[in-house]
Amino acid sequence: MRSVVELDSVVKVLDSKAVLNGADLVVYEGQTLVIIGCSGTGKSVTLKHIVGLMEPDEGQVRVFGEVISGQHERIKNRIRLKIGLVFQDGALFDFMNVYDNVAFVLREIYSLSEKEVNQKVEWALALVGLAGIETKMPSELSGGMRKRVAIARAIVYKPRLMLYDEPTAGLDPIRADAIDSLILRLRNEAKTTSIVVTHDLNSAYKIADRICMLHEGKFIIDGTPDDIRNTENPIVRQFIEGKSNGPIRF
Ligand SMILES: Nc1ncnc2c1ncn2[C@@H]1O[C@H](COP(=O)(O)OP(=O)(O)OP(=O)(O)O)[C@@H](O)[C@H]1O
Ligand SMILES: [Mg+2]
Repeated sequence: MRSVVELDSVVKVLDSKAVLNGADLVVYEGQTLVIIGCSGTGKSVTLKHIVGLMEPDEGQVRVFGEVISGQHERIKNRIRLKIGLVFQDGALFDFMNVYDNVAFVLREIYSLSEKEVNQKVEWALALVGLAGIETKMPSELSGGMRKRVAIARAIVYKPRLMLYDEPTAGLDPIRADAIDSLILRLRNEAKTTSIVVTHDLNSAYKIADRICMLHEGKFIIDGTPDDIRNTENPIVRQFIEGKSNGPIRF
C-alpha cells in the first residue's frame, strides 16, 4: 500500500517542551487514520507539520512521497493544493460571506470560472447540509455551522488528502453523525485519504481504518478500532475508559 503521509522521528520543541519527541507515523492511501490523545499532547501540532505550517526541529515529514518539511514556500503551496485542512477553530474569513469563503480557493488558486465555482460551492454546501446560507456572514452562524462551512471550504476542491481537527466537536449528535458519514463517503466514493483528530471515540470507531494515540511526543499505538477496544496497553485503556484527567504516572 502506498503511503500518503509519513512522519519520520519528528521532534518539535515548543516553549522548551518536546511536544513531538521522535514521532513516527504512516498514513496509507485511501485510508482514514484517527488520532486520539489527551488535550495538549500535540495533535494539532502534528497536523500543522503535515501541511508545512510548522517545521520540525529534527526528523522529516513527507506528503505524497515528497518532503514538505524545510521546503520553499512555493513547493509547499504546490503540495498544499492536494490537501484540505479543517482547522480546530473552523477558522473562516470573517469579512466574507459563506459563499465567498467556500469559493475562495477556487477563485484565487484554481482561477475557475464563476459558473464552475458556483457548481462546486453549491455541491460542497449541500454535502455538509448547509445549502441556502450562502449570503450569511460567519458572525451570524452558530459554532457548529461555522465548522461545517470550514469543512465545505476544505472539500470543495476535492483534495486527495483531508485533515480534520476535531470535526465533530461542538456539533449535536445528528450533525456529528452526518460529518462522520461524509468522511466515510469521501473515503468510499472519492478514495480520499483522511486524518481525523477527535476526542469522540464513538466517531473514531465508526470512521477509522486505523487509530493512533499520541502520548508524550510519540504515537504509542496503531491499530484497527477492534485492536484499540481490546488493547491491554494501560495508557490507551486509561484513555478510552476516560479515567485520566491529568498526566498518567506509573
Ligand atoms: N504556536 C505555538 N507556540 C508555542 N506553543 C505551542 C504552539 N502551538 C501549540 N503549542 C503547544 O504545544 C502543545 C500541543 O498543542 P496542540 O494544540 O497540538 O495540542 P492538542 O493535542 O491539539 O490539544 P487539544 O486536544 O486541546 O486540541 C501545547 O502545550 C501547546 O501549548
Ligand atoms: Mg488540538
